[in-house]
Amino acid sequence: MRSLDEFAAAKLAELERANLRRRLVDTTRLDGIWALRNGRRLLSFSCNDYLNLSQDPAVKAAAIDALERYGIGSGASRLVTGNHPVFAALEERLARLKQTQAACVFGSGYLANIGIIPALIGAGDLVLVDELAHACLFAGARLSRATVMPFRHSDLAHLQALLDQHRARHPRVLIATDGVFSMDGDLAPIPGLAALAERFDAWLMTDDAHGIGVVGGGRGSTFVAGVRADVPLQMGTLSKAIGAYGGYLCASACVIELIHNRARSFVYSTGLPPAMAAAAVAALDRIETDPAYAALPLAKARSFTRRVGLPEAESPIVPLIVGDAQAALRASRLLEAEGFLVIAIRPPTVPAGTARLRFAFTAQHPDHEIERLADIVRARILTAPPQAQAAGAR
Ligand SMILES: Cc1ncc(COP(=O)(O)O)c(C=O)c1O
Repeated sequence: MRSLDEFAAAKLAELERANLRRRLVDTTRLDGIWALRNGRRLLSFSCNDYLNLSQDPAVKAAAIDALERYGIGSGASRLVTGNHPVFAALEERLARLKQTQAACVFGSGYLANIGIIPALIGAGDLVLVDELAHACLFAGARLSRATVMPFRHSDLAHLQALLDQHRARHPRVLIATDGVFSMDGDLAPIPGLAALAERFDAWLMTDDAHGIGVVGGGRGSTFVAGVRADVPLQMGTLSKAIGAYGGYLCASACVIELIHNRARSFVYSTGLPPAMAAAAVAALDRIETDPAYAALPLAKARSFTRRVGLPEAESPIVPLIVGDAQAALRASRLLEAEGFLVIAIRPPTVPAGTARLRFAFTAQHPDHEIERLADIVRARILTAPPQAQAAGAR
């Protein structure tokens, strides 16, 4: 269709003019940390495999064994083809880690969020979402047909004001936030959110995609204070520190049963490949039995922030905000020339004017390379002229 291609070409040209066009670049991950790109080996700081478990021999062996036994795909929705015991085993492990009665595994984290929220919340209800929460929390909130109101990032006073003003007009209210913010690396103020949720009879949901395995002793953002905060809906993904693929919700037994019945992305989507579930179980074994290993990504991120002179990292994710998209691309190219893969993150993934480099630290990044990276960032990016480094780090 000519009009269709004209539409697509015009949209792409618009993105190009704003330095916002994205392209897939052939990149082969060689192991947990090195990647081959444009014919060069680069040390990657752009991968969420925080514990490098996607390459762990025991995790791979578990996946291979399950693949040999059960095949590749799972064949149909779990309600149709039957529930493979490996899913029950994984769900039991997730519930144990998160100290909930039950858990439900989805095809991905994105699928989890667009299924969970509309299963619990509907027209006439209210969803209050942190303005910097992940796109799929907003997608789930919008799909629910509830009123969606963003609250200022981690701002408990603003959230309380919205609850004061609007709570009484809605039968059900959901408060949704990332536990660890995916593009900023900071932790949500979970105890304060839980207190507000309790006070206003709202349901608190955290997306702990970047928390499980790496903060709170490996249990995630709900456990950062040392005890389990009162979060009745703990969602997350198996695709980051767990090193596999899939999403999950940990909650009470009756909420999980409702999800089995009502979450459309669970009911109407094929179950996760059994090998992924088996890999995730093996990854959880490692996280539960080796807390010192699970602590490494955060420790490495902190050694980087100390050396560069940035605010102390709260998670393995460290942002360096440079402001405009072109400056972020330039900084990323500079680091690539030095042998580092650090992708520029641009709007709409982050708000306009906050394009950034996002560094993701993993357990196996060598300390001497982190030092070299920090020195280059301090000497050549933080000191770049204003048009190349508009806002500085935050
Ligand atoms: C905070 C957050 N939630 C959800 C997702 C989606 O998870 P998945 O990749 O498993 O779909 C991501 C990233 O991909 C994320 O960063």
